[in-house]
Amino acid sequence: MKRVLMLAAENAAVAGAKVGGMADVIGDLPAALHNEHVAVDVMMPSYGFLVSQLKARFIADVSLPFRGQTTLVEVFIAPHPNVAGSAIYLLDHPHFDAGGAIYTSNNDGRPFADDADKFALMCAAAAQVICQEIVDKPDVLHLHDWHCGVLALLRAYEPRFNALQAIHTVYSVHNLSIQGQRPLCQEHSSLQAWFPELFAKLSVHHDEAMAKIIDPIHAQCFNPMRAAINLCDHLHFVSPTYAKEVMLASECGSGHYGGEGLQDDIAQRAAELRVHGILNGCFYHDTPLELPKRTEQDFAKVLDYAEQCLLNNLANNQWVASQDQIALQRLNQLRRAAKAPSCLLTSVGRLTSQKVALLLQVMADGRYAIEHLLQSLATGQSQGLLILLGSGDEHIEQQLRQVAGRWPQLLFINGFDLPLSQLLYQHGDLFMMPSSFEPCGISQMLAMKAGQPCIVHGVGGLKDTIEHQVDGWVFNGDSLADKVDAMLATVTEAVAMTEQPQFQSMRQQALANRFTWQDVAKAYCEELYEF
Ligand code: GLC
Repeated sequence: MKRVLMLAAENAAVAGAKVGGMADVIGDLPAALHNEHVAVDVMMPSYGFLVSQLKARFIADVSLPFRGQTTLVEVFIAPHPNVAGSAIYLLDHPHFDAGGAIYTSNNDGRPFADDADKFALMCAAAAQVICQEIVDKPDVLHLHDWHCGVLALLRAYEPRFNALQAIHTVYSVHNLSIQGQRPLCQEHSSLQAWFPELFAKLSVHHDEAMAKIIDPIHAQCFNPMRAAINLCDHLHFVSPTYAKEVMLASECGSGHYGGEGLQDDIAQRAAELRVHGILNGCFYHDTPLELPKRTEQDFAKVLDYAEQCLLNNLANNQWVASQDQIALQRLNQLRRAAKAPSCLLTSVGRLTSQKVALLLQVMADGRYAIEHLLQSLATGQSQGLLILLGSGDEHIEQQLRQVAGRWPQLLFINGFDLPLSQLLYQHGDLFMMPSSFEPCGISQMLAMKAGQPCIVHGVGGLKDTIEHQVDGWVFNGDSLADKVDAMLATVTEAVAMTEQPQFQSMRQQALANRFTWQDVAKAYCEELYEF
């Protein structure tokens, strides 16, 4: 069996170690790859709690130079919870412990500083562990996102880790918009601070190396995402369309998100035939689900559950948050109406500008685009409702809170709750995913799996999973304003369609779609792990 060692910051296979969609990929792939006769071990920081949570067993200490001193990192092993013969390796050091959090945000004007320190140590420790053969020697080293960029750098230029060059190394990009840049030097969190000798060597003798690892815009910064893109053997993007989009420059004006400054590097790697676009997958039930019937009781169930989530929010806080208060009032209004909405739109996702910038575009009349959408739900005889579940950037939460206060057609549940998200996938009529860019996306797959057609922006993985007017709606536009207009027109069209008989066949088509992890695993074996 081929052995792959994945290094990653997140992993949904263990409770508490998921922040975004990358965690699902790391969580789900080992089982699928196991069926293709590939054994996957995952290595990650313990974050101060995983060693005890997983009852992991101590296997070794490694000592390594970091920040100019000898640093001791402990290595633990736990069996993979779902896959026989696979392990989770945990790296433990006080540096990784941020009170249960995976990431910390620096509010001191030094973006990524603490996280960059943490992941630089993770990479150096992982390199040491592999070179000392403390873990089963991998045939493939598979790195994910900027957090692992330092390992690509060490593999290429740190003589102590020369042995790593013999290991085929793959880099997966899940989101190019976060690159983890830090100053090269003269900063507490910088390449020079982490690895003073290596930095001295590179800066004096090695222009060629420097040219591959510095930020293309801020030349005084180290860019770990760029280092990995330029230094790994193969490069993987999480959908075929995203793999093409990133070869073009991003353009703020038109709302195109592309290479984020790294387009030339990626195009260069593509010319070497080292770039692959492989869509992520999702797990499906063995027996296909029946298309769920929509009933009044379902809607009542969604409201009951949403209410419970809001009560949990209240119970866990000393003060009543106004968005929870507004949502409770809306719930009561909806119950008094004693009738399910004619069309239930749903949306589940993290509240970041990637996901909601189009909805929060300010229109000519000074209102947000989402308000025009809500207004269109209020007109005519039919009364539609949008239920939006999510948490994220405070500023976005505040904007949505204001909208929720003004519009009875919006029920905004500020938080994340897995069972409520599942109810929304099951009982919604139309799922909204108007992301400005979407490397792959999982929510659209989950909504379709439950028979709910999606309205999506035709980018990245959304374009690769939804077929316009077959199993959902895909809108596009050349400028930001065009995109917003197209989104609003598409919602109106789709809402009207829900009354038509063809809508049932669109639901059937959505339900029948398959993006299986097994297909993904096969593609990995053919494209990424073959050498
Ligand atoms: C990131 C991307 C998302 C993708 C996920 C897993 O979160 O934003 O589109 O599905 O990674 O690859």
